[in-house]
Amino acid sequence: MMQLKNTETHFGLISILFHWLMAILLIALLALGLYMVRLPLSIEKLRLYGWHKEWGMLALLLVILRSIWRVSNIIPHLEIPWWEALAARTVHFAFYVFMFAIPLTGWLMTSSSGLPVSFFGWFVFPDLISSHTDLIHLFKKTHKWLGYGLIAAIILHVCAALKHHFIDKDDILRRMFL
Ligand code: HEM
Repeated sequence: MMQLKNTETHFGLISILFHWLMAILLIALLALGLYMVRLPLSIEKLRLYGWHKEWGMLALLLVILRSIWRVSNIIPHLEIPWWEALAARTVHFAFYVFMFAIPLTGWLMTSSSGLPVSFFGWFVFPDLISSHTDLIHLFKKTHKWLGYGLIAAIILHVCAALKHHFIDKDDILRRMFL
């Protein structure tokens, strides 16, 4: 039977669910973000901005829960050369930096624009800083370049997983499935 928690050799159900849910959510947010900024100003564009902000805040809440789960669990051992393990752990650490920094800069950008960040109409998040026009541009740029960094990290991560599956023929990709 599938374990909820990780073991020395396998990821548990909760880690696997976090991995795939967040992968889908982050890729969807990247695609939506890149698409919506290129649209001409319209009701449709504003509606997409609203969705992007709400789902982006959900990503922030999920990464907080995921980090708590990660530190309270053991990480399955990587049976690969030390330099490959170091590269893998560096990319995994970078993912956590991106997963926190991107929604936080989005929230800062929206707060500095004096706009609210609603959570699916249930409540409104408090502003992180007061309205500040000088800072909007800085947060916008940082949000955008962190987004590009996340895309690069995803490409590296997927290429490495496919190399392990198809070239090395080990079970590194398989153990992220049930
Ligand atoms: C992990 C979550 C998120 C990801 C991956 C993400 C990604 C992106 C990307 C790739 C863009 C397009 C940047 C460009 O090409 O100019 C973008 C734009 C934007 N994001 Fe996010 N975002 C996330 C969360 C958030 C959050 C939580 C907010 C606000 C609460 C937010 C607010 C915005 C806004 C307002 C824009 C448009 C900026 C502009 O008009 O230039 N994002 N996002």
